[in-house]
Amino acid sequence: MNRSDFPIFDYQPDLVYLDSANTTLKPRAVIDAVRNYYENYSANIGRATYDLAERATLEFNSVRQKVADFVGADLREVIFTHSATYGINQVAFGLRDFLRVGDVILLTEYEHNSNIIAWQKVAAETGARVVFLDEKPDLENVKIFAFSHVSNITGEVFDYDEITAKVHENGGLVLADITQSIGRTKTNLKNYDFAVFSSHKIYGPSGVGVLFAHREVQEKINPLIFGSQTFKKISRENVILADNFSRFEAGTPNIEGVIGLGAAIDFLNKISMNKISEHDIELTKYMTKQLEKNGLMQFLIGAPTTGIFSLNHPKIHPHDFAMLLNQQKIAVRAGRSCSDILMQKLGLDRGVVRASFGIYTTKTDVDKFIAGYKNAIERLAD
Ligand SMILES: Cc1ncc(COP(=O)(O)O)c(C=O)c1O
Repeated sequence: MNRSDFPIFDYQPDLVYLDSANTTLKPRAVIDAVRNYYENYSANIGRATYDLAERATLEFNSVRQKVADFVGADLREVIFTHSATYGINQVAFGLRDFLRVGDVILLTEYEHNSNIIAWQKVAAETGARVVFLDEKPDLENVKIFAFSHVSNITGEVFDYDEITAKVHENGGLVLADITQSIGRTKTNLKNYDFAVFSSHKIYGPSGVGVLFAHREVQEKINPLIFGSQTFKKISRENVILADNFSRFEAGTPNIEGVIGLGAAIDFLNKISMNKISEHDIELTKYMTKQLEKNGLMQFLIGAPTTGIFSLNHPKIHPHDFAMLLNQQKIAVRAGRSCSDILMQKLGLDRGVVRASFGIYTTKTDVDKFIAGYKNAIERLAD
């Protein structure tokens, strides 16, 4: 599907790119949008009034609406950040005043390290405790529940509707890490208070992320950094911060990155998220069938329903697999994939081989991976 939209395949026609959960390849539309900004209206936003600056400001601002529409949010709930990681840190450290000694920060063991470390640090500062879901905690003391909607290791989808409702009942807040779900399935922010993702995982440039924060909870978080664009009024003695998303967007943003993200969303909308999701599901089923057919299911971790597959062979190091696959131009992730707590739980200190799909992935890519994986076992086992 749409392989010709990705110029990298013109230069590397044999590339089998199975690392889209790490970062996605970029379509021509995104590359062109970034280049167009540099070549035709390269200017700072929100400050100057000449034509170039006004065009840059208009283009930048239009992306906020595109992002909001993409997930059914309100424009005022969209905060541009540098990454999903930054968004999580903004919420975690922004809630310092909300957390007290003994409060529980509930995480799941499936979290990316980014959705663990910031919470551990903020817990250490405030006296709150980080507790993982598999410890089966009492939900009454949960002040924050932060979870990934799709696991970056097992490709499983987690909604946690009941826990979300319970946490809300007790006055807690919920953050959904939608980094792995937003480019794969139609995302519904439902009643989550916060959600985060990175542009580079949905075919946009890196260095840009989005934090959704519902209007009522935006007031609960303090900005991480301060500077230009963040205030309503300033005097020698005092500053009054803006009472909207501007409060969290200090300094000149990654203008070209945000414009590129807008182009990525246009690109995805043109294909339609329904079609993208169908493609992902079809390939996921195909991969599962091929793993079964080739006797490889025993190595699979979890039960993926989206295009992220992690495999563990008891005898062969993931890096050895990756090296042999790389010789056939098959790009996969090998190691703990930033999920150390899950790897510890599974006893997989060396990590896994992870193959993950994007909208350009084909059944032929899957076949080549399966053949390459089997061939590596033949060469490396014993
Ligand atoms: C589920 C999940 N959350 C967060 C992140 C962090 O994203 P970034 O490194 O773009 O901040 C990743 C990246 O792999 C991820 O898969």
